[in-house]
Amino acid sequence: MTTTLVLGGTGTTGRRIADHLRSAGHLVRTASRTGSDVPLDLDAPATWPMALDGITAAYLVEPAVRAGQDRLARFAEATIEAGVRRLVLLSAARAAEPTHPLHGLEQTVRGSGVGWTVLHPNWFAQNFSEGPWVRSVLDGTLALPAGDGRTPFIDADDIAAVAAAALTDDRHHGRTYELTGPEAITFREATDIISRVSGRTVEYVDVDPSEHTKRQIVNGVPPETAELLTDILVTIANGHAGAPTDHVEQALGRPARSFATYAAQAAADGRWKV
Ligand SMILES: NC(=O)c1ccc[n+]([C@@H]2O[C@H](COP(=O)([O-])OP(=O)(O)OC[C@H]3O[C@@H](n4cnc5c(N)ncnc54)[C@H](OP(=O)(O)O)[C@@H]3O)[C@@H](O)[C@H]2O)c1
Repeated sequence: MTTTLVLGGTGTTGRRIADHLRSAGHLVRTASRTGSDVPLDLDAPATWPMALDGITAAYLVEPAVRAGQDRLARFAEATIEAGVRRLVLLSAARAAEPTHPLHGLEQTVRGSGVGWTVLHPNWFAQNFSEGPWVRSVLDGTLALPAGDGRTPFIDADDIAAVAAAALTDDRHHGRTYELTGPEAITFREATDIISRVSGRTVEYVDVDPSEHTKRQIVNGVPPETAELLTDILVTIANGHAGAPTDHVEQALGRPARSFATYAAQAAADGRWKV
């Protein structure tokens, strides 16, 4: 019998991964502080044993990326001690840089001795419908320092499909997937698409990077995280966002979903209704 632990099981990716696995008939145990199958706090190792008992594979995600934080690396080690044969880590393309907060964690997973797959997703399309930008979208103005830069937003459901495949199929071991949507679009194009499918007017407005960092901090984002996010958006503005890849297709045998398809689904699900 195999049991897959899905950390962050109520989150954007974890919830979808659990759905994919369950609908394919796999045994799943979701874990997070509240609302999952088992309660688990990454900051409280005493809560870990119940989640780890009997697991054979694990999806790992760091809910809040911060410098100097090694809680997920320690949790990854605990999953290996618990006997997992497969680890799937949600990381970031920038984690290749030694100074990135997830760099050490990636090294731990790659050197774990068990089958591993690392996912480097682009910005989630769901940021517009259930993540950090949904309030602004509903208010009609999305202000970010991304200029007219283009980026290939990825549908979180595609991330989840790839993660579920990697958690259950040895073919994905040792792979690092750069997960993107099929085309790079601007934020203005994204809000235009959302306006069209939702029937509400949503406007993209370019904002000064330091202003964006300040606004996030006021909204409770830790300064270091706020700076990291602003930095990534400025990279997009400067035209240096990653290009689309075919890694979703390599992993799943079908292309990644387009932003328009994601947006039509989100609208049909009532995500932008008040
Ligand atoms: N959004 C993007 O565009 C984007 C792009 C690339 C990478 N990422 C990365 O994606 C990751 C977030 O993944 P996600 O969007 O799937 O998650 P999410 O929607 O942010 O949800 C976080 C999950 O983690 C749980 N959690 C939070 N604190 C926890 C703790 N101390 N111990 C245990 N569980 C905890 C939450 O539940 P509880 O609060 O109940 O514990 C929830 O289930 C981050 O590392 C981010 O950098 C995001």
